Amino acid sequence: MNRFHHLRKDKETRDLNAEVHLNANDFIYPYFVIEGQNQRQPIESLHGISRFTIDELIADIRHTLSLGIDKILLFGVIDESLKDDTGTSAYAPDNLIVRAVREIKQQFPEIKVFTDVCLCGYTSHGHCGIIRGTEIDNDATLPYLALMAASHARAGADFVAPSAMMDGQVEAIRSALTKQRLLQTKILSYSAKYASAFYGPFRDAANSAPSFGDRRSYQMDYRTLSQPVDEVAADIMEGADWVMVKPAHTYLDVIHRVKSKFPKTILAAYQVSGEYMMVKAAASAGFMDERIAMTEALTAIKRAGADYIITYYAKDYFTPE
Ligand code: PBG
Repeated sequence: MNRFHHLRKDKETRDLNAEVHLNANDFIYPYFVIEGQNQRQPIESLHGISRFTIDELIADIRHTLSLGIDKILLFGVIDESLKDDTGTSAYAPDNLIVRAVREIKQQFPEIKVFTDVCLCGYTSHGHCGIIRGTEIDNDATLPYLALMAASHARAGADFVAPSAMMDGQVEAIRSALTKQRLLQTKILSYSAKYASAFYGPFRDAANSAPSFGDRRSYQMDYRTLSQPVDEVAADIMEGADWVMVKPAHTYLDVIHRVKSKFPKTILAAYQVSGEYMMVKAAASAGFMDERIAMTEALTAIKRAGADYIITYYAKDYFTPE
């Protein structure tokens, strides 16, 4: 008889036998940035998360750094009145994210700044690319994504993170960066991004819900197994430095599959808004312990093979109770 209980008898024994550990270094913390000054808007759909004006963002980042978290991901959230068909505010000179990145890197040169590159928060129709009639125009979208990424890179972003799921987006961004000699900027591609109901709370937070239809013609179908591997392979060929699987908690098999196929490529996984709120909401209703449940979920993501985890819980995890 094997005495497996020996390995789990008490806390000390369990800690000694643990094979997967979460560190502050594993986490990338998302931020929502708004125009203006002196404002923090709590996001109703994402408990504990706010939208920040740049000045308030700086103050909050100081706190985030003090917890040991040194990687952040920025999303711009703009007023409805500034949106148009092609998402001009996403790549205009001196756009919101450009100003945020500049300020952040000036205050905290040591922080690693990732910027989301997608049009959905900036277009009047809320889709991730250019629309012809009711269809997404993949190829017409590429130059805009390249412009947006280059603006972030010029401002000093360490990583640009294309999330529009347009074919060829990594190549378009990589060649724009090369042409403009922005050779220090890396690309974290949202390579395997599924069309997911778990983005629900985010669309409210970023005010980026599509005004018609959904994103299933460009984001992946969750019934597919080989497409994530093909998408990752294509992105690596196109020049992605790191790749991502998204969502995470409901796609652990995909994380494992991608990491097994591409063991040398750094893999990030995004525990998305709905995955975060599922635990938060259940815990606040008293159905489970928030910290224990979240620790289990995040450990599972790492155990599956993620090198980094993008999560709204990063700060909570390192905040003493
Ligand atoms: C932009 C983008 C989305 C998310 C990250 N980047 C929304 C979407 O694709 O609809 C979702 C993140 C989350 O749910 O936390 N395309």
